[in-house]
Amino acid sequence: MDQIIVTGNGPLSGQIPIAGAKNACLTLMPATLLSEEPLTLTNAPRLSDIRTMTTLLQSLGAEVQALQDGQVLAMSSHDLTSTRADYDIVRKMRASILVLGPLLARFGHAEVSLPGGCAIGARPVDLHLKAFEAMGAELDLRDGYVHAKAPAGGLRGGIVDFPFASVGATENALMAATLAKGTTVVKNAAREPEIVDLAECLRKMGAQIDGEGTSEITIQGVDRLGGATHRVVTDRIELGTYMLAPAICGGEVECLGGKIDLLAAFCETLDAAGISVEETPNGLKVARKNGRVSAVNVTTEPFPGFPTDLQAQMMALLCTAEGTSVLEERIFENRFMHAPELIRMGASIDVHGGTATVRGVEHLKGAPVMATDLRASVSLILAGLAAEGDTIVSRVYHLDRGYEHVVRKLESVGARIERVKEQ
Ligand code: EPZ
Repeated sequence: MDQIIVTGNGPLSGQIPIAGAKNACLTLMPATLLSEEPLTLTNAPRLSDIRTMTTLLQSLGAEVQALQDGQVLAMSSHDLTSTRADYDIVRKMRASILVLGPLLARFGHAEVSLPGGCAIGARPVDLHLKAFEAMGAELDLRDGYVHAKAPAGGLRGGIVDFPFASVGATENALMAATLAKGTTVVKNAAREPEIVDLAECLRKMGAQIDGEGTSEITIQGVDRLGGATHRVVTDRIELGTYMLAPAICGGEVECLGGKIDLLAAFCETLDAAGISVEETPNGLKVARKNGRVSAVNVTTEPFPGFPTDLQAQMMALLCTAEGTSVLEERIFENRFMHAPELIRMGASIDVHGGTATVRGVEHLKGAPVMATDLRASVSLILAGLAAEGDTIVSRVYHLDRGYEHVVRKLESVGARIERVKEQ
């Protein structure tokens, strides 16, 4: 397995291009299953999760061609051969559950393996299933699979009322409702930009959708969907991650393609911590306003609140802030696994349940650390940028799931970072 070695070496300077959003692409790709016509995605990120979704769609008989070095995904589901998503693929990536809604809507039946949990939590899919039941589907959970069956005439429009705003369940409900007979209303829908991106793509395919980006989405079912070409929205989590690089070790970096409206709550938190964010014609320019970063409190919430996917990275920044910060993780039950690794680097962090208290220290010290999940892995790299000496991050395969060319991007703004084979 590879390792990444980061050596703290002072301020950064330059530009980092931000790729298309992993979490938008992972819901846009299954949308191809809704139509016989071709769906082409541009600005697609080159990530292992995208390759996993490609394998899953191909296992169903879809055609997926990665063109232009993987930045264009040309897909067609004209001749599907299966509506069964096998465990051996689904277990690698939870987002695989997003093929269930489209398959059920277009073919009236589907068998999809339950995804199982992951490092950050149990990750149930009960809300996805509740949405399909509201559209008349019968769901039978057995032998580790969801066996789903639509009514004889196909899914029917219904009222889907989520107890809280689940991103994936909203995406699955939205896709299924596009072909249901009648009107579906999704209440307490998630409002993430990736859902707005999905709705815009589905509308290009002929879907009738109103309200995306608000907590109530109304979908008028249609008989069939056509093809489309759609550009994947900028990845706000990659954006926020790289904005923290100059925040953590000084200097000034422009994140190309960044927009404040993708990360308003995060930018407000950065401002309170003493980090300046300036909109430029090409993106967002980020720098520390003065000396040391100030402690701030963070609570993760569904969009438009502070994103849970930036909590680990923010903790890395706050480890060297002046003062004490309290981070509350309200979305996932086990998302502080980066804390023990940061403590190995000299951070002072107390974790109790969903709350982490971080007492800022002057300097972190490089150390061998281990990545435990996607966002934890990149928080360790960020911490290494500001630490004295070398930080050696192991199990970087986690990183490859969500960050393309992280070494190249950070090297380009002056970081001392390299990827090596495990020593
Ligand atoms: C999406 O996961 C993202 N993944 C996650 O990003 C992100 O952290 C999360 O949304 C929250 O923003 C993709 O888009 C592929 P949820 P998802 O349904 O859809 C519970 C990353 O690092 N829940 O909003 O799984 C669940 O256990 C990943 O890129 C149920 O209880 O998130 C969690 O505690 C990590 N029942 C909470 O809701 C359900 O049926 C939020 O989950 C579904 C979810």
